[in-house]
Parts: sequence; structure tokens; C-alpha cells
Amino acid sequence: MSIVASTAKPISAFPTSQAQGGFRGSTLGLQWRNIEKKCLRKAGPAKISAKFDLKPPPYPLNALEPHMSRETLEYHWGKHHRTYVENLNKQIAGTQLDGLTLEDIILVAYNKGDLLPAFNNAAQAWNHEFFWESIRPGGGGEPSGELLELINRDFGSFEGFVKEFKTAASMQFGSGWSWLAYKANRLNVGNAVNPCPSEEDKKLVVVKSPNAVNPLVWDYSPLLTIDVWEHAYYLDFQNRRPDYISTFMEKLVSWEAVSSRLEAAKARAAEREREEERRKNEEYDDQTTNSEAVEMYLDSNKDDSSE
Ligand SMILES: [Fe+2]
Repeated sequence: MSIVASTAKPISAFPTSQAQGGFRGSTLGLQWRNIEKKCLRKAGPAKISAKFDLKPPPYPLNALEPHMSRETLEYHWGKHHRTYVENLNKQIAGTQLDGLTLEDIILVAYNKGDLLPAFNNAAQAWNHEFFWESIRPGGGGEPSGELLELINRDFGSFEGFVKEFKTAASMQFGSGWSWLAYKANRLNVGNAVNPCPSEEDKKLVVVKSPNAVNPLVWDYSPLLTIDVWEHAYYLDFQNRRPDYISTFMEKLVSWEAVSSRLEAAKARAAEREREEERRKNEEYDDQTTNSEAVEMYLDSNKDDSSE
């Protein structure tokens, strides 16, 4: 059975603009201005321009056995994930959200925590694709290279990170997610922009989120996630969430995917710093030009009065 409509727009767990290093501007404020422009451009007569499609996991549905069963993937991906995507398409059709990227829909619909109706389906569609790409057959073990170095730096050791990640996943009350994310130059406050960025701000963090919320809404770069909704593990582990979390960490995590995401996140952070520097320089140039204009005007007045 084909599940991908040929005319549909694929969802990208890595936003194209993120992968290219831009991520819609250098600050969350700039992101919002860009999204507003897109919405304003779409403010004419409503028409359906695009649909998201359900991307399959990058492996066969039985490839994660015995750690995650084919039956779990048939339900989790084939029914739950599918429903989020289908409901999102129905929800945004003909609205000002239609035609935005999935990431922009998430940011707009998050609405600073006062969620708009499309948020849950949009975020769940993104979260699930990101989740499927966070794991792989034969996964688990330990990361290497720069990822391991940063984990050791920011969590004391790999064991320290695993303990913190497992605690976040097991302590998330009810449905939700646990994340490893790269937090570059941001205060430890949602949606805040760091007025005095420093190298110490660039670090890995573990965060948990309720229901469909993900770290994109805090302007963090997600690197790894585990779905701790019951539908993710009940068929294989019943109510034993800690066993599911341990199996995820020891047998399923794709550290290759996490390393690749870290590389993209760092490139994005560097590009955003360059954009911020350009913006400051442009502001300085504008101020300099304006002050020169005033000075010329004053000089002109002085000359007139002296005649
Ligand atoms: Fe799920």
C-alpha cells in the first residue's frame, strides 16, 4: 500500500532553511517577522496550495525487532503518526497556515504558549518524523567524536548524560517527549534572546516537554528525542516505561543521526552569529548616516545664518 501521495509536500525533520544554516533569521524576533511576512503574503483569497505527506521510517517496519516490534510501528507510525499528518492537512487547508513550512506552522501555532488549534498536529507530525530518524536497527552504544566531547563537557560523562536523559523521560508526567538539544546563545528562558552571548552559552541540554511541545518553540536545536506517549511502548512493554527507555538508549539510538544534527546545529548557530553581526553593522551604518545628515543640516543652517 502506497502511503505517500505523489503531489504532497514532504515534511522535513531538518528544516531546509536550518540545514542551510539560516533558520529564518538571527533571532527569534527576526524569525517571527519573516513568518508574519509569509502570512501577510497569503492574506488574499484562501486556496489550498500544498499538503504534507507521511514519510516512512528510514528502515522496514520490522527492522527494529526484537527491541521495537513491527506491530508497534504499524500502529505508532501507520496509525498515530498518519493521523497527525492527515488532521494537520485538513486543519490548515485554505487558512493562512497553508503553504508555510511545518516548522513555521509550529512556531506560529505555539503562539507563545497559548496554543492555536493546529499546533498539536503540526508538532506531533514533526516530532514523529524526528523520532523515527533518531533510531536505527543496530543502534545504541556510545557516541564518538565531537558529540562525545560535548556530552562529557556538559554532563560530566556519557553515563551522566544517560542518567539525566532517562530521568527526564521517565519523569515526564503523562504524555510527552524527552530531548537532547543544542542551545546556542540563548538564555535559559523560553523564547528569550541572550543580550550578551558568549561561548559558555553554547551547550547541550536535556529537556522534557508535555504532549506535542518540542524545543523548536524555545529556539533550541533538537538533536535526539524519545517519544514517551504510551502508544510508543505499550504493545512491547505494557506500562514499563523505564524498560522502554533503557532499550531505546542501549539498542536503538542512532548516534550517527545525532552527530549529523549537531553538526548542522553548530553551522546554523555560526550562520546566525554572522547574520546578527551583519544586522548590527547595518544598524550602525544607518545611525552613522543619519547623524551625518543631521550634522550637514545643522552646518547648513549655521552657514545660512552667517550670511
Ligand atoms: Fe508517538
